[in-house]
Amino acid sequence: MSERKSNVIVGGSSGIGFAVAEALAARGEKVVLTSRDAGRAEAAARKIGGDAIGLAFDLAEPHAIAGNLAGIGSVDHLVIPAVERDRNSVKDYDVGRAIRLATIKLVGYVEVVHALLSRLTPDSSVVLFGGQARERPYPGSTTVTAVNGAVTTMVRTLTLEIAPIRVNAIHPGLVGDSPAWAGNAAAVDRARLQSPGGRIPTTADCVVATLFLLDTASMNGANLVVDAGWGLV
Ligand SMILES: NC(=O)c1ccc[n+]([C@@H]2O[C@H](COP(=O)([O-])OP(=O)(O)OC[C@H]3O[C@@H](n4cnc5c(N)ncnc54)[C@H](OP(=O)(O)O)[C@@H]3O)[C@@H](O)[C@H]2O)c1
Repeated sequence: MSERKSNVIVGGSSGIGFAVAEALAARGEKVVLTSRDAGRAEAAARKIGGDAIGLAFDLAEPHAIAGNLAGIGSVDHLVIPAVERDRNSVKDYDVGRAIRLATIKLVGYVEVVHALLSRLTPDSSVVLFGGQARERPYPGSTTVTAVNGAVTTMVRTLTLEIAPIRVNAIHPGLVGDSPAWAGNAAAVDRARLQSPGGRIPTTADCVVATLFLLDTASMNGANLVVDAGWGLV
C-alpha cells in the first residue's frame, strides 16, 4: 500500500480551508490544520476525526511561524487559505487592520513556504488563496484588492524559486455558502444577480479546484479563477 500523503492547511479551522481539510482526510490522508487559537484548531481537528492535528499560530506574527511549524514532518500538500477580513476605506483608514492583512498574505504566506521548504519534496505542491477582489474592487477593498493581486504575482516568483515543487493559487469570487457571508444575504443575492449565469461559487467548488491543483502534475504557476464568470461583468 502506498504511503499516506501529508497535508498542512494554514487557516483550516473554518470556511474553505476546513472543507479542504475534511476532503483530504476523507481520502485517507494525514491533515494538520491551523487556526490563531489552539481551542479552535483542536475542535476543528476533532470534528475531522482520525489522526487530524490542530495547531495554533498567527500569520500576522511572521517571526514566530517557523518555530510553530518545527514539529511538522514531510509535507506533500500545503494549502494556505488564511485570511482576516479588512473592510477598510481610504477615508476611514485603520492602519492596524491593513498591516495585519498585508502581513498575513504578503509575508505570512511566504514565510510558511520558507519555513516548510526542507519538509516539502520534489513532488509536493502548494496552493495559495487570493480572491477576485483583485479584479473587482469595491469601496473598502483597497487592502484586500492589493493583497489578492499580490498573490497573483507571488505565485509566479515562488514557482520559479522553489521548482520542482509546484505552486498555484485559487481566486474565488464571493463564495455564497462560506461563513464569511452568513448573515449577508443581500450581498450574496447581489453577486448572484450580477453573475452571467446567475451562479456564484460554493465552498464545494473551491474544494474541487484545490484538489485539482494539488493533484495535477502539469498545473504549475497558475492563478485559477473560481467565480462562475462574475469577474467578466
Ligand atoms: N469566502 C469568500 O467569499 C472568499 C472570496 C474570495 C476569496 N476568498 C479567499 O479564500 C480564502 C478562505 O476564505 P474563507 O472565507 O474560507 O475564510 P474564513 O472562513 O474566514 O477562514 C479563515 C481561516 O484563516 C484563519 N486565520 C484568520 N486569521 C489568521 C491569522 N492571522 N493567522 C493564521 N490564520 C488565520 C482562520 O482561523 P481562526 O479564525 O480559527 O483563527 C480560519 O481558519 C481566503 O484567503 C479568502 O481571502 C474567500
